[in-house]
Amino acid sequence: MPTPDSSIAFLADGYLFGHRRFLRMRSDAFRTRIMGRPAVVMHGSEAARIFYEGDRFTRDRAMPTSVLHLLQDEGSVQSLAGAVHHHRKSLFARMLTDDDALRRLRELYADEWFRAMADWSAAVILHEKLITVLTRVAVRWVGINPDTVDIPARAGELAGMIENAGKFGPPNWLARQRRHRTERWAGELIAGIWNGDVLVDPGSPLAQLAHHTELDGSRLDQAAAAVELINLLRPIVAVGRFIVFAALALHVWPSWRRVFASGDTADVGNFVQEVRRYYPFFPVIGGRAQHGFEWHGHRFEIGDWVLLDLFATNRDERSWSDPGRFQPERFRDWTGDPNTLIPQGGGDLIDGHRCPGERATIELMEEAVHLLSRATHYAVPPQDLRVSLRRFPALPESGFVMDAVGPAV
Ligand code: HEM
Repeated sequence: MPTPDSSIAFLADGYLFGHRRFLRMRSDAFRTRIMGRPAVVMHGSEAARIFYEGDRFTRDRAMPTSVLHLLQDEGSVQSLAGAVHHHRKSLFARMLTDDDALRRLRELYADEWFRAMADWSAAVILHEKLITVLTRVAVRWVGINPDTVDIPARAGELAGMIENAGKFGPPNWLARQRRHRTERWAGELIAGIWNGDVLVDPGSPLAQLAHHTELDGSRLDQAAAAVELINLLRPIVAVGRFIVFAALALHVWPSWRRVFASGDTADVGNFVQEVRRYYPFFPVIGGRAQHGFEWHGHRFEIGDWVLLDLFATNRDERSWSDPGRFQPERFRDWTGDPNTLIPQGGGDLIDGHRCPGERATIELMEEAVHLLSRATHYAVPPQDLRVSLRRFPALPESGFVMDAVGPAV
């Protein structure tokens, strides 16, 4: 009997699509069809290790074009494999793991937070405000003077790429059209650096990107450099969603807000890790097998499509006790296994496709928790804070409304 198509069930069950079936089938993996295409859906630290390590899976034709064109895009580091990927990935790792660069990212966030807060006289929707705050942070961090940028336009385009990646039809097409404007702007910026019209700090991420050479010694072409610039800017804006979830967690479990406000910040890092584990972001990541192999009784042939369930892995009982409970303390004695906490992918940073922006994400979130609990006064009026697990990417319904916001005295 042919495997039934699960596209409708995937949309109906949302983030719980895999989780429900893994439980029902008592299995790490199951076969199905999505959009008519046969797929194996798998989860757990062992599945993540197989998926991320050993160069078994390529990202080539592994995600629908509706997702691909709004997120990483063709020609990006994610679309590469083998030595070429390794080389391009090293550039991202250099830019995104440098201690000074990360410190600067935090400082810029704090600076932009206070700058924006000065204008918040009435109630604000945190998620909306963070889009502009983080666009300014991202632009400044890569090395661009924000006064030379149409910030509202860029903020709208970058946020639209994230918001609409999980949608189909007109909203997705529109966001892709708007993305072309970002690409044009980014391409012109790169060309400006090459011809000397745009001056940038030689150590800045933008300069590193513009002058990066491929393995054969040639300069990145303009389109690829533009795509990679967007791959620095867009995800920094995306971190706003995790910051909203951090604000939600501080609200739902106010004892943490009180602990941090008292100056006891020992668990801020653990709190942030738990936010990244507990709340939904990307549901799955797709890959296509590069060679045949067997795993847990499943035979994979070249070209087979696999979806690694990130959400189910972050809530896998074999790795996390009582996974449905929000419990930052669990990270006090966490082993740091790279394949158990995988909201930003698993495996190794350089050798595989693990997110190079993980430390940057954590730094921004820690700074946000610090600012929310110690440096900002605010109230949380009644609102709809439910998080639908059927909406990709997830967010509290209200976007998290804050009232009476100002610097803590
Ligand atoms: C890759 C999620 C923040 C840049 C990834 C992957 C995931 C992810 C799941 C792995 C994709 C795969 O396996 O193919 C996230 C989430 C973020 C975040 C949830 C926070 C909201 C960032 C930041 C940056 C960044 C802040 C850079 C400033 C990238 C790049 C890749 C990537 C360039 C491609 C890596 C490769 O293919 O080797 N991200 N990310 N991300 N991320 Fe992130």
